Amino acid sequence: MARFTLPRDIYHGENSLEALKTFKGKKAIVCVGGGSMKRFGFLDKAISYLEEAGMEVDLIEGIEPDPSVETVMKGAAKMLEFEPDWIVAMGGGSPIDAAKAMWIKYEYPDCTFEDMCKVFGIPELRKKAQFCAISSTSGTATEVTAFSIITDYSKGIKYPIADFEITPDVAIVDPALAQTMPKKLVAHTGMDAITHAVEAYVSTANCDYTDPLAIHAIEMIQNDLVASYNGDTDARSRMHNAQCLAGMAFSNALLGIVHSMAHKTGAAFADFGAHIIHGAANAMYLPKVIAFNAKDETAKARYGVIADYMGLGGANDDEKVELLIAYLRKMNDDLNIPHGIGTYGADSYPCEQGFVPEEVFLERLPEIAANAILDACTGSNPRIPSQEEMEKLLKCCYYDTEVDF
Ligand SMILES: NC(=O)c1ccc[n+]([C@@H]2O[C@H](COP(=O)([O-])OP(=O)(O)OC[C@H]3O[C@@H](n4cnc5c(N)ncnc54)[C@H](O)[C@@H]3O)[C@@H](O)[C@H]2O)c1
Ligand SMILES: [Zn+2]
Repeated sequence: MARFTLPRDIYHGENSLEALKTFKGKKAIVCVGGGSMKRFGFLDKAISYLEEAGMEVDLIEGIEPDPSVETVMKGAAKMLEFEPDWIVAMGGGSPIDAAKAMWIKYEYPDCTFEDMCKVFGIPELRKKAQFCAISSTSGTATEVTAFSIITDYSKGIKYPIADFEITPDVAIVDPALAQTMPKKLVAHTGMDAITHAVEAYVSTANCDYTDPLAIHAIEMIQNDLVASYNGDTDARSRMHNAQCLAGMAFSNALLGIVHSMAHKTGAAFADFGAHIIHGAANAMYLPKVIAFNAKDETAKARYGVIADYMGLGGANDDEKVELLIAYLRKMNDDLNIPHGIGTYGADSYPCEQGFVPEEVFLERLPEIAANAILDACTGSNPRIPSQEEMEKLLKCCYYDTEVDF
């Protein structure tokens, strides 16, 4: 038996933020990040719409990018005090993911972070509150997904929490919120979105329900991402929908090892002063993983279908895979994203020597590879790598060398 789960309501298009006016409840807690939602006036609007709906409103502000276990626990304590019946998370993937984990802890105060990380092991939520997610970046699609990514900084590891229980009740995909994104964020979150769609399409859990969403998202992102990056506001609005479609696909078809590797490298070098930003990590690893997975005949044929939908040409699947890889690499160039960790600067832009020194990368490689294999996203990848293969793959991702194994 397979299951396909999405939010009960997805409000999208211009002014969809106003859907908050129709919510029924007594108390809402609004969770936001570092200040962009406040700065651009969206937070005030959300608060006034909820008040118009007759609710008392409290705030959890300042949720950091790549939120920590500590932030989750602190926020949950505030929820336990305020006792909201609506949790409204607004912003990028970070505040929404943090709020999802806070929600679990609010409903089950004895639940530890380890308990939350048991895949599809979350107890029944919605005894205390319903959850609304309003996305302001066009990538993670966490507003419609069953996932939340929380970082344990003591281990330098990002852990995915995965359960349909945390699929939001309501998603709001209002294009106005995406218009204020700086270019770099557009690039990273957009490549995250195309990675979601490609991984979902070749995942071993793909199905007739997820395939059309994944393929349509890929076509839209192909048409709109670079234009959105270069300031086309209509393309920016369409990208906000495209990433959401990709999210609907991967929340149900799951992902693959591009994400396993991004999760396990993202914070692994934080002691060198930077993160490898999630979307940038995906953008660098996706072409390598396609070459690796294409050794599996079924995956190769599916990449061929993607290339056909994208109109890339190619006489056979081998050629189509090559053309797909070349196309994605060109997108990285157009979006100023490097091709490997070795040339990934602390500011995320390509440079001669990246912020991760070669000897540090090699020293940490066996452990990172082992952790990536254990990541929740590995199980649905079309080809399961051995420790040796994962190390080789990660090396190709550092040096930007060809994957021929
Ligand atoms: N839950 C999932 O299914 C899922 C999927 C992929 C990634 N993730 C996780 O999501 C996180 C990344 O989320 P993200 O890429 O959306 O970025 P983010 O939430 O970390 O935000 C990045 C920065 O952009 C700013 N920002 C957000 N929206 C803005 C806007 N409209 N205008 C101006 N500035 C804005 C934020 O204030 C922040 O400083 C990572 O932790 C990643 O692992 C989760
Ligand atoms: Zn992602």
